Order: sequence, then structure tokens, then C-alpha cells
Amino acid sequence: MIVKEGLEDVIACRSSISRVEIEDGKAILEYRGYNIHDLAKHSCYEEVAYLLLFGELPTKSELEAFKEELKDLRELPPQIIGLLTHLPPFTHPMVVLRTAVSYLGSMDKYIHYRSYEHSIEKAKSLIAKFPTIVAYYHRIRTGQNLVHPNDELDHAENFLYMLYGEEPSELEARCLDLDFILHADHELNASTFAARVAASTLADMYACIVAATGTLMGPLHGGAAQKVIEMFREIAVPWRAEEYVKEKLKRKERLMGFGHRVYKNVMDPRTIELKALAKMLAEQKDSKWFEIAEAVEQAAYKYKKLLPNVDFYSACIYATLGIPDDLFIPIFAIGRIAGWTAHIIEQYENNRLLRPRALYVGPKNRKYIPIEERG
Ligand code: COA
Repeated sequence: MIVKEGLEDVIACRSSISRVEIEDGKAILEYRGYNIHDLAKHSCYEEVAYLLLFGELPTKSELEAFKEELKDLRELPPQIIGLLTHLPPFTHPMVVLRTAVSYLGSMDKYIHYRSYEHSIEKAKSLIAKFPTIVAYYHRIRTGQNLVHPNDELDHAENFLYMLYGEEPSELEARCLDLDFILHADHELNASTFAARVAASTLADMYACIVAATGTLMGPLHGGAAQKVIEMFREIAVPWRAEEYVKEKLKRKERLMGFGHRVYKNVMDPRTIELKALAKMLAEQKDSKWFEIAEAVEQAAYKYKKLLPNVDFYSACIYATLGIPDDLFIPIFAIGRIAGWTAHIIEQYENNRLLRPRALYVGPKNRKYIPIEERG
């Protein structure tokens, strides 16, 4: 038995959703064969979600119809709003999200139907409702009235509208839209793998998404974004970044927002897009977080050749947009829900139970001693 700790480089299934490859020392990320840089430049989140779910780019009329369907599905049932009201206000929004998904499952009469058509309907409903769950909970916990979805607004701008109660600027809406596109899928990352493991047992889609949301929250995965802003706050001014990084690495501690299982010694293509966006936002809004981020990036490279990952400049963007720290991971989830559901459907369509082996390293063949005889 060869043990691959952390399943590193293990090919666990076939997929035609995301291509993550290193070619000629450069990282490639494609959704359904379309390069992430092209999608970032020309697309919107709804178009990317459609692409991930159906495998093809939509025509203009297909995209309009898809957007309308999502708009019709945005509102939450009163029971879910009741749940959000009754959860303790200190509950982390990611815990709220996974609890709400589980509750939504209990309200779906067809929860156990896994046909392609049923799965697509569930996927659309979850994509549409994720922003509403996050925005409603934030307003409830801060004692503000709910701002209901606005059918005039697209996915990203509607989220910001529900969160803040006023329409965002074009720049703010585009930032978030782009952020959702860049987070929409990433092959077999830990949360998507968790979703696929659950799907491989033929568990219902809500159960798979609960597994994924729970996994995303860990600081080695999506949870890193929140840790990045906590680090920026600790550093406070750019000139303190180098010393901070040096000391942290000396103590053999991890720098959050750096390193990647697949993009080793090569820049994550999403980071390139996010850094450009963060820079633009810094020029047009406020450069405080971007200046600290750049100083940390330089020091991390200087002392350990570490490169920033997707969470690093996302954190900078969210903070510059004034988004509360604990909404960083839910915002990742709002983008990633399209990829998770596409992967669950792909797993259902061509399923084999995901069940690896472990190399047993514990004691063997021990003699059982009755409890009365143990010293
Ligand atoms: N800070 C400091 N050192 C890091 C590091 C980080 N963020 N990421 C990797 N390294 C170092 C390790 O210490 C190790 O160095 P060594 O060979 O001197 O011991 C080397 O890089 C390889 O690390 P390894 O743990 O084998 O990489 P991995 O593939 O298991 O880890 C991550 C991948 C993402 C878990 C890891 O990079 C990490 O913990 N990053 C911080 C959390 C984060 O940002 N997560 C979001 C990922 S998108």
C-alpha cells in the first residue's frame, strides 16, 4: 500500500467541470474549457453558473431566462426567516448557512429525488437563496429590517443591496460579481470533494451541500480569508508587515492566504485577477488594505518564496468594500455553490462510491483483558 498523505496528486474521479493544470510553468484554470481570464473579462456570475451547471455558455435568451428563474427563487420561506431570527446573534454566518441549507432540505418534498431534472431545480434554488440567507441573517443580527430581493438587480448587486439596503455603485457590484466568478469552481478542492463523497453515497443534495459548507469553513480552506483580514488588522501599517512575516515564519507558523496544494511555486490565476481588482479598488476607494497586502506578499516571497492564494486578495477586496470579517467565508460559498451543485450532479450521473483505504498503523492482535482485571 502506498500512502498519499492528504490524497496529494491522487486522481479520485473523472470530471469535465474545471481544468486545473500547470503547463510550461504557468497555471491554467478553465471552467468547462473556457479560460478563467476570459470569463473574468467578459462574463457575469449567472452566465458562469449556467456554464458550470449545463456545460455550455448560454445564448442571450437562455441567460435572460436563467436570470429570471434565479430571481423568482431568491425569497426565503417564512420558516427559514424564523430560523434566522431565532439563532443566537453570535452564530457564525457559515454555521447559519449550513443550518439553513439543512432546514431547506426538510421543506423539500422531493428531497430524495436525484434525477438530473430534480437536481438542476435544487441547484438553481440553492444558488438563488444563498445570498438571501447571508444578507437576511446579517440584517437580523444587527437589528435592521430585512431588505427583500430586488428583481431589477442582478445576482451580485442584489446581494449587496439586500446586505446594505441601498444599491451598490457599479464598481462595487462588478467587484463582487467578478469575485463570485473566480470562486465559482475549483476542481476537487476539499469542500467539493466532501460534497462528492456525500453524493457518492447517493445522499440528497442538501446533505452534500451541508458537508461542503462545513468543510469550506476550515482555516486551511475558505476560512483562510477571514484569517487574512485578522492578520492585516494585527499588522495595521505596511511597514510592520516584513517583521510580522519574518517572525511568524521563524515560529514555523502558517501565513494565511499563502500556499496551495496544486499551485506550488506558480501563481494561482485567480490571484492575478483578484490582485488587479484589489489594486483598482484601492485606487478608486481606499488603499489601506491593499498597501498592507502588497507588503505582506513581498515579505512572504522574500523569506519563504510563498505565493498568495485566492483568499489573500479576496480578503483585501472584501475589507475595502467594508464587508464584515465573518461574511468573507459565506461570500466564498455564495460563489462556490454553483460549482458544488455541478459536481454533485456530475457525481450522481456517473457514480461510484468514494471509499478509499487507510494503512493501519495501530496495535494488532491484542489480548482482551476483562475490566475487573485491568490495573
Ligand atoms: N505559510 C507558511 N508556510 C507554508 C504555507 C503557509 N501558508 N503554505 C505552505 N507552506 C510551507 C510548509 O511549511 C512547507 O514548508 P517546509 O517544506 O519548509 O516544511 C511547504 O510550504 C509545503 O507545505 P505543505 O504543508 O506540504 O503544503 P500543503 O499542500 O499540504 O498545504 C495549504 C496547502 C493550502 C494547506 C497550505 O499552503 C496552507 O496551510 N496555507 C494557509 C491556509 C490557506 O491560505 N488556505 C487557503 C488555500 S486556497
